[in-house]
Amino acid sequence: MIKKPFLFVANWKMNMPLKAARAFVVDNCAQLHKIAQADASKTIVLCPSFVSLGVVYATISSTAIKMGAQDCSPHESGAYTGEVDALSLRQAGCSYAIVGHSERRAYFGETDEVVAKKVEQLLDCSIEPIVCIGETQHEYENKQTFELLARQLRPVLHVWVSKMSSGEAIPDYMTIAYEPVWSIGTGLVPDAHYLTQVFDWIVNECERSAPELSKHVRLLYGGSVSEHNASEILRIPFVGGLLIGGASLDFQKFQNIVLLKV
Ligand code: PGA
Repeated sequence: MIKKPFLFVANWKMNMPLKAARAFVVDNCAQLHKIAQADASKTIVLCPSFVSLGVVYATISSTAIKMGAQDCSPHESGAYTGEVDALSLRQAGCSYAIVGHSERRAYFGETDEVVAKKVEQLLDCSIEPIVCIGETQHEYENKQTFELLARQLRPVLHVWVSKMSSGEAIPDYMTIAYEPVWSIGTGLVPDAHYLTQVFDWIVNECERSAPELSKHVRLLYGGSVSEHNASEILRIPFVGGLLIGGASLDFQKFQNIVLLKV
């Protein structure tokens, strides 16, 4: 699994309106660029809302900071009012896109098959997918974590493996973000023992799908990441970065996480 560069992904969700997003990058872009330039083992990715992609990219385009979208359409083009296609995301400056976030699965009915289609669109447009997987509290308590993760992961790995074996030009890496739903925005973070088990399991699952996947997959943890727990999480074997929600809205907290020694 790809451990470095560590990816620090700021998922702003719908918490950063356009003017706030512009102010965040205008005020902090020089500092984030300096951090990213000084340490090649760290990649910073900002994920604003669709409508803010333009203003964010206008400020970061000539820096070492990368940009990602929070979603994309499962369709290439057509009569899908309100949808945003992967090619437009590429043209807007996105190098990454989050798909399958638990909020999209829970509130917008996104199924594992739809997530796999989104991954396909992103790969076709040379955007690295950040695919979120994770169990709910109920599944966790009923010891269904691995069953659920297998269901969410397999269609996505299948897309990747079939594109790779057909020799199509796709991004070098795919990112899988393990985000237990019960940890998102709650302040609850699984202990290192549990996370080690889960990440080991994901690694095995990827290798079972195709041994060469280990050279192309990067694993993130997400869910209540803070400046207080980030370095412990990054020391867990196979963890190659963090997907950060709440703490990424506050520049000081986000910077403290990115600057941690790992
Ligand atoms: P959180 O969100 O860091 O606020 O828990 C993470 C996420 O949902 O990606």
